[in-house]
Amino acid sequence: MTPLPTADLASTPTDWPATATMADTASISAVAGTIGLAADADRAVLARELSIVVPTFNESANVAELTRRLGETLRGIAWELVFVDDDSPDRTAEAVRRLSQQDARVRVIQRIGRRGLSSACVEGVLATSAPFVAVMDADLQHDERLLPAMLQALGKGGLDIAIGSRYVDGGQIGEWDEQRALISRLATRVSHAVVPAALKDPMSGFFMIRREAFMDRVHSLSALGFKILVDLFASGTQPLRFVELPYEFRARHAGQSKLDSHVAWDYGMLLIDKLIGRWIPARFVSFGLIGSAGVIVHMAVLAALFKPGLVSFQLGQALAAAVAMVFNFFVNNLLTYRDQRLRGARLLRGLASFMLVCSVGAVANVGVAQFLFSHEQGWVPAALIGIVVAAVWNFATSSFYTWGRRSG
Ligand code: GDD
Ligand code: MN
Repeated sequence: MTPLPTADLASTPTDWPATATMADTASISAVAGTIGLAADADRAVLARELSIVVPTFNESANVAELTRRLGETLRGIAWELVFVDDDSPDRTAEAVRRLSQQDARVRVIQRIGRRGLSSACVEGVLATSAPFVAVMDADLQHDERLLPAMLQALGKGGLDIAIGSRYVDGGQIGEWDEQRALISRLATRVSHAVVPAALKDPMSGFFMIRREAFMDRVHSLSALGFKILVDLFASGTQPLRFVELPYEFRARHAGQSKLDSHVAWDYGMLLIDKLIGRWIPARFVSFGLIGSAGVIVHMAVLAALFKPGLVSFQLGQALAAAVAMVFNFFVNNLLTYRDQRLRGARLLRGLASFMLVCSVGAVANVGVAQFLFSHEQGWVPAALIGIVVAAVWNFATSSFYTWGRRSG
């Protein structure tokens, strides 16, 4: 067979008959394969230098503009872009799919029944393949023009991660009000319990990492909450070799920030997980703290009903326990299981299963304490052990039956 001249192949799509059958197409590919062109073309698509991962929640008005700007800035670089969307009500995932139809380098991972910036980033990175991976926000607050400099810094070797920083010379926090700037500084100071003090902007959500450095620590990430960079620095055995590159944090392009007051709780849980998570899961700490608040609720209800003589002690106890359980359920759903929060019908089913689990826990609590007390243990250790047994039971069982199976 006479090999086709290259020029012909390049112009083939429009020259092919509109009615080309599958067999025609197959034979054309076979010809191209024989002369080695298709194989090279495939490889060109596969050899990505840079993957960009963007977590999204309600960012439909930003994804097209971000994609356009990345295309402009990254000319000459083989890149891929993955949005990880938590089933945004504004149909961000659909908006990304429309972009994918125009540009195969763009994709979406749509997670259902899940929330969380960090876990979204981790799953996005794992779904990509380039030797360097950048993580950035969708709202254009992170200056995409920094990416080539980050890639260059890492490409030279000797570094694991390049971080877009607001707190090194030349960096700016943009239009933040004094309160948010203060909170950010405070969070940065606290982070130094788990990350190197030399890192000026550990709160940054904008960085590029060598894939190998990421893979080395991915199994020890907590993936809780918002602060993936703190998590990366505080995980793994080898310290990350880093550089911080200044940029100006811009104003949000469209839509609203997802940062709310619960982010502080998430952040606390991340730090606890990094400090003691090896021995006690952070979720159990959260569960225990909320349980302690539940004891106060119990006592308050009991005092309000029993003291004025409205009900007997026994009925007062039962009512107080029920109110405390409802309280614990809702607060745990809000904080401990924020990333897999139950809503709608699942909320009511969850409440029922939680109350069932905790009722068994209460019986176990009294039973264990009674047993120990009758075996010559002091009343204080007997009662405390009863509480611990019930807490562990409630946590383990409700994390499975009420909030579904999870690892940490
Ligand atoms: N998949 C997913 N799931 N994405 C989320 C979620 C979530 O639960 N919450 C927020 N996002 C996405 C947003 O859509 C956005 O693209 C990005 O994560 C950052 O969220 P913003 O709501 O814009 O956060 P911010 O601007 O207040 O804070 C950002 O900047 C800080 C300073 O650099 C974040 O990057 C922080 O991590 C960072 O500390
Ligand atoms: Mn933002």
